[in-house]
Amino acid sequence: MTQIDDVKSRLDIVELIAGYAQLQRSGGSFKANCPFHQERTPSFFVFPDRQSWRCFGSCADGGDAFSFVMKADRVDFREALHRLGARVGINVVSQQESGGRSRQLFEINDAARQFFQAALMTPEAAFVRDYLHRRGIDDRSLQIFEFGYSPPRDNRLLAHLTGAGYETELIGEAGLARETDDGRYYDYFRGRLMIPIRDWEARVAGFGSRALDDSVTPKYLNTPRTPVFDKSRILFAMHLAKEPVRQHGAVIVEGYMDAVMAHQHGFDNVVASMGTALTERQVDLVRRLTSHVTMALDGDPAGRNATLRSLESSWGVFQQRNSRTAQQPGTSVLQQPEALELRVAELPSGQDPDDFIRQSPERWTAFVEDAAPLFDYLLTSLVERADMNSADGRAWVAQTMLRFVAQIPDAIRRDMYIDELAARLSVSGEMLRAAMPAIARQSADTRRSEPASTSADAAAPPPLRDESAAEESLLALWLQHGQQLGPHALTLVSPEWFSRSENREIYRSVCAFVEAEEPEATVAPELETHLASLRSWELMVSNSDKLKQTWQQSALRLEKERLNEEIQQSASVLDAEELENLDSPVVIRLLDCTNRRREIDRLLGSTSPRQP
Ligand code: UTP
Ligand code: MN
Repeated sequence: MTQIDDVKSRLDIVELIAGYAQLQRSGGSFKANCPFHQERTPSFFVFPDRQSWRCFGSCADGGDAFSFVMKADRVDFREALHRLGARVGINVVSQQESGGRSRQLFEINDAARQFFQAALMTPEAAFVRDYLHRRGIDDRSLQIFEFGYSPPRDNRLLAHLTGAGYETELIGEAGLARETDDGRYYDYFRGRLMIPIRDWEARVAGFGSRALDDSVTPKYLNTPRTPVFDKSRILFAMHLAKEPVRQHGAVIVEGYMDAVMAHQHGFDNVVASMGTALTERQVDLVRRLTSHVTMALDGDPAGRNATLRSLESSWGVFQQRNSRTAQQPGTSVLQQPEALELRVAELPSGQDPDDFIRQSPERWTAFVEDAAPLFDYLLTSLVERADMNSADGRAWVAQTMLRFVAQIPDAIRRDMYIDELAARLSVSGEMLRAAMPAIARQSADTRRSEPASTSADAAAPPPLRDESAAEESLLALWLQHGQQLGPHALTLVSPEWFSRSENREIYRSVCAFVEAEEPEATVAPELETHLASLRSWELMVSNSDKLKQTWQQSALRLEKERLNEEIQQSASVLDAEELENLDSPVVIRLLDCTNRRREIDRLLGSTSPRQP
């Protein structure tokens, strides 16, 4: 979540605007005399459900909380963000400031990494080196994975880092030390095998650490969440695996040691999810390199329910990801990118990849190649566990599988899976279809009520922001292909069509820079993160003819979305208000919008092979 989202999510637009205008309830919304122009009958409305506002009178303008403050206080986006941030108690920092802090955190982590590595080479740590060798980890792996040791006593890391000039506060923020109630600091990792965790850009983001004695819990202790470390956004060993993953697809294992042992045997396309269910962010990382992903699951006979839960969430993430890619502007069915494919291979009972590879490395490749598509894997393993002769058993399998099917956003694909399921269970497709709505509702409820239940310490994946997909994909298209599109393209899109102020603001800067014939738009530092994420959106555009067409269609779709919103707003206003005269500005606006929308539908119909 960007700071902008954070500020937005804590604001209430009604409460905010009530400070500027005398709001009266009107149905589901609020009305007032417009604070921006003189009038005697209210034509200014605030919509709490969408957190937006609109003046149907002579302003003919509307937007979110940011644009309201920009207009009312006559300030720029940046100032509005800071003011609203202050209002909800968030100290908005610019990317540069927070970037500086991140750099310090990476730096101190790297200093700690060196300290741990050196400590592993001391006589005191001979037993740790023995432990590694007993586990079959050779010296080369020891170097590549930068194993280390955290001394058990005397807060030696803390002493070392403060001696090197680092402030205790930073050491604490990095998760390397903890503070006691009486304000003293102590080493967080003590007497453990240390495993540095590097991020996509190979910076040391945090550490995993293993107890060296089986009686110690937890077995693995990881860096707590810090500004640069979030387990759900990192795949362990990814910095070593990028090229191999690009060439051979990704294999995702659960544990640190599984990944280490795989690499030691030359299987360097292996990364580890660190014991948690795959998150959307992790899938995004892999997706940059490949569409072939295999999960190698530990073969544990007992805890299958946990695995099932975690697979359900991974499956959901993959489905969402695929449908989002398919919805990119301009991708017709024929030119759709290869769908992300998730397959599962399960190890023999009681084994994990570490054990398997140590015992029979020659069988690993075949093991991975034999992986089954997730859907088939689930169906097979459920059928194995259930008593398929009883009605209860079959119903249980059907219900569990339908929970997965319910997560497929695309109706056609959902249908195909239902048919397959019906065939495998010897029941009718109609019956399964009839059961779907209830199951979809149920699993949506469970997902809402236990967001982090899929693993001990996984963070909930970032919320999807579908409502702004059209405007963000249009922006992303310009940011990545603006050169080819040329300045004329911008005349098709008006800044007012963007409903989120941050998008509107970026679009405005783009226009200003193109006008000034500057090469690259720059934005307020607070918008950098958002801009960077738009620049890295995955867009599938095949050639420059298609590009122009894609732009035109996206522009029309965005305008249509804006019109839809206005139509909805005016309709809700008309619902609540008794209208004496039919030339009310709301009615006029509603008619204008509906006409224009009809025209857009016609245009979209003639330029596009399929109806949106
Ligand atoms: P496992 O319990 O399967 O451990 O956890 P493992 O990888 O086989 O470890 P060894 O072989 O006993 O050393 C799988 C992964 O889950 C995470 C770690 O990333 C671990 O590698 N995990 C597990 C934790 O983060 N904390 C824990 O307490 C346990
Ligand atoms: Mn293991």
